[in-house]
Amino acid sequence: MTNDARATEVDSAITSPFLRACRGLEPQHTPVWFMRQAGRSLPEYLRIREGVPMLESCFRTDMVVEITMQPVRRHGVDAAIFFSDIVVPLKAIGVDLDIVAGTGPVVADPIRSVEQLSALRDLEPDDVTPITDAVRALVGELGDTPLIGFAGAPFTLASYLVEGGPSRDHRRTKALMYGDPDLWHALLGRIAAIAAQFLRLQVEAGASAVQLFDSWAGTLSPADYDTYVRPHSAAVLEAVADLDVPRIHFGVDTGELLSRMGEAGADVIGVDWRVPLADAIDRIGPDRAVQGNLDPTLLFAPTELLHARAAEIIDAGRAAKGHVFNLGHGVLPATDADALTRLVEFVHAYEPER
Ligand code: CP3
Repeated sequence: MTNDARATEVDSAITSPFLRACRGLEPQHTPVWFMRQAGRSLPEYLRIREGVPMLESCFRTDMVVEITMQPVRRHGVDAAIFFSDIVVPLKAIGVDLDIVAGTGPVVADPIRSVEQLSALRDLEPDDVTPITDAVRALVGELGDTPLIGFAGAPFTLASYLVEGGPSRDHRRTKALMYGDPDLWHALLGRIAAIAAQFLRLQVEAGASAVQLFDSWAGTLSPADYDTYVRPHSAAVLEAVADLDVPRIHFGVDTGELLSRMGEAGADVIGVDWRVPLADAIDRIGPDRAVQGNLDPTLLFAPTELLHARAAEIIDAGRAAKGHVFNLGHGVLPATDADALTRLVEFVHAYEPER
């Protein structure tokens, strides 16, 4: 068989619309999933989480499986995202942290000195057994629907570790970055190793794609992103390249960083809603697929407007190597779950201009 023939055979064996779009192959319909689809917009999620702290639920195999499945059953999305949080691998290696409802991750002893780096040991498979068990169970239950594994990117995780909690301006994080570049690079190197191992374990347990969330990268100038952050994100993405699953890379408010995030090496770049998708595709270039980018607040708008905006995004996505429909950031907790289901139906039924 020629290489081309072999490639065609491999391509046609990929049937999932989500995986096809990630790889730049024509999908049967525009694939759609939603960041934060597993969560507070679903009454069944609120019920199962009653009385169970967030982090505890992330380490309970039965809960991870059930919560991950909920949006797949309800909305018929083209991919599941494994229910967890970006701080879970840090918790798993013993970092003293919690996820406080309405606030986010809070770290008891923020990391600001070289001595504290020893708290960030390598992640071992045994640290996350309940999680890899959940991934294995999910892959069986999901059948043809792919499971996306994920991790937090080094900068975003460093921000929580250095600030000690959520931050608007990330000033302590940046003070460390500018003031002690050696410690900064050592810290991001440690986090990159942990994130890469977390992704690897999820894929080895059966996840068919991974997303690296650099939610707060948009707070950086392009030059600072290149100097202090991109090499570490690139190291995470490179560390899982051999697994041959699509790698998605996403951040918020990253209009000025999109081409640079692409250079970090992912196969798919997530785009937030502040940039028109056509402009994002120009910036990212022809070598990568895109994911996004409906403003999550449009789910609170009249249906006609919501659908018109979704259609514009699908039409614009035709110019990319591949397009996975998503929101430009996570589902807002107050979102009407039925509106999400109807949006999935609309995206699947819409025939883009060709
Ligand atoms: O459906 C999914 O997307 C999977 C689950 C998921 C969660 N967190 C569950 C969660 C994913 C992918 C994440 C990633 C995550 N966590 C990111 C990157 C994505 C992004 O939104 O930019 C970040 C920055 C975090 C850190 C974090 N954890 C925040 C900011 C919060 C929200 C705090 C709040 O209560 O408003 C969390 C908590 C969290 N993670 C919740 C969920 C469902 C809410 C906790 C609850 O239900 O009580």
